[in-house]
This record gives sequence, C-alpha cells and structure tokens, in this order.
Amino acid sequence: MNAELPPVIAIDGPSGSGKGTVASRAAQALGWNLLDSGALYRILAHVAQQAGVSADEPARLEELARGLRVAFMRTPTGAEQILLDDRDVTAVVRSEQSGKRASELAVIPQVRQGLVGVQRGFRRAPGLVADGRDMGTVIFSDAGLKIFLTASVEERAQRRYKQLKQKGLNATLPTLFSDLIARDERDRNRSVSPLKPAPDAVVLDTTGMPVEAVVDQVLDRARRRYGEAAAGRRQGG
Ligand code: DC
Repeated sequence: MNAELPPVIAIDGPSGSGKGTVASRAAQALGWNLLDSGALYRILAHVAQQAGVSADEPARLEELARGLRVAFMRTPTGAEQILLDDRDVTAVVRSEQSGKRASELAVIPQVRQGLVGVQRGFRRAPGLVADGRDMGTVIFSDAGLKIFLTASVEERAQRRYKQLKQKGLNATLPTLFSDLIARDERDRNRSVSPLKPAPDAVVLDTTGMPVEAVVDQVLDRARRRYGEAAAGRRQGG
C-alpha cells in the first residue's frame, strides 16, 4: 500500500522501558533516521513556557507545535544532541520537569494534531526508527515492524535514576517512582492516543534484560522484515 514510502520501525512503551536507548542504537546500527517523538512533546512544553502559552490555549499550542523545527544529531564523540532552530536544547529537553510538563500537554488533542505532520516529516530514506507512545497505533500505523517494550515499574524507575545521575541531573528514587506511576496513569488513560500496544506489535518485556540483548532482538526482526534495506552498517550495536 505504501511501497514507495521509506520503511519504519515503531518502538513504543512507557517511560523508562528503554525505548529511547534501543531506538537510538538500532537507528545507528541500521544507518536509518531517528525520531524521538517524546522529545518533540518536551520541546513544545519548553517553547510554550518561553512564549507564555498555557495549557488552556489549545489553538496557540497547536500553532507552536506545527512550527517546531527540530533535528536529532550526534556530536563527533557520539553523544546525542537535539537542535531546535539550530540551537542545542538537549539539556532542557532531558530534564524531569520537561517530561512532566510534556505529559500534561500530551493529553490535549490539538497538541497531538499539531505534531502529526512534524513527526511524519522524519520518514525519509533509507528508513526511520521512531520511538514514543503512539508510533505504531497512530503516527506510523502502517509501519512494517512494531515493537512495544515493557518492564516492571521498579526497574524502570531504577533505569531512569541511573540515566539522570549519569547526566549529572538531580533525582531521588522515591520521587522518580511516584512520578513514573502518575505519568503511566496519564499516558494510558488519556482519551486521545492512549499508550497501548498496536494489535500487530511484538510485545517485549525487558525486565532483567541488558539493553544490548533488546537491541539485538529488534535488529534481528528488522533484518527478517526488511532484508537488504535493513542490512545497515553491521557494526554489532
Ligand atoms: O518518552 P518521553 O518521556 O520523552 O515523553 C514525554 C511525554 O510525552 C510522555 O509522558 C507522554 C508524551 N508523549 C506522547 O504522548 N506521545 C508520544 N509519542 C511521545 C511522548
């Protein structure tokens, strides 16, 4: 049906399921483009705050969403870098505060609508690995490979804690744990695009699994599904 569109691997799951790391490594191994859709919600939260636009101004939020110009890059040392209009916004995007505010804005239908075109714009040759909550159900519902990652709440909070600490950001485990539960609730129970696996998604429980093993599983499936197009760089990770 969409034979002429570049292939997509959709990787969805709750906060801390490892989807960001897995998507980023898979994209690198394949030499495909990467879309971190959560970062778009986070950037919108930041931009809205800067512009003094609040959650009860959906039309203005939609306009801001449509106008986002974001690129996901890597520094020469391999670190991820998120650019907004060529400005480095990586640190502000990764803060827990942005994540919380993003989750609040993500329940607003106009916000989601405004970001649809921005997200689909990342589908470029040779292929796209997209991670988020509704990649397989809504944004790329025609994706040829859909993965839904899960893990226990305890493990997800631990992973998040380690990640933030490594980045030198402030965090405490009990706060992360309760924030995670609140965010899961909100993401799963919202009326628009709730977090759930697509009917044709492969569900992988990654509790206790090293990230490399999850990446290998995704790459195996990608190569089986897409053959040559997913032959990638074969650099093993
Ligand atoms: O994956 P993340 O933590 O960066 O996402 C931040 C918030 O954005 C998350 O709580 C829910 C929202 N989000 C969404 O609703 N749909 C997506 N595709 C990605 C993120």
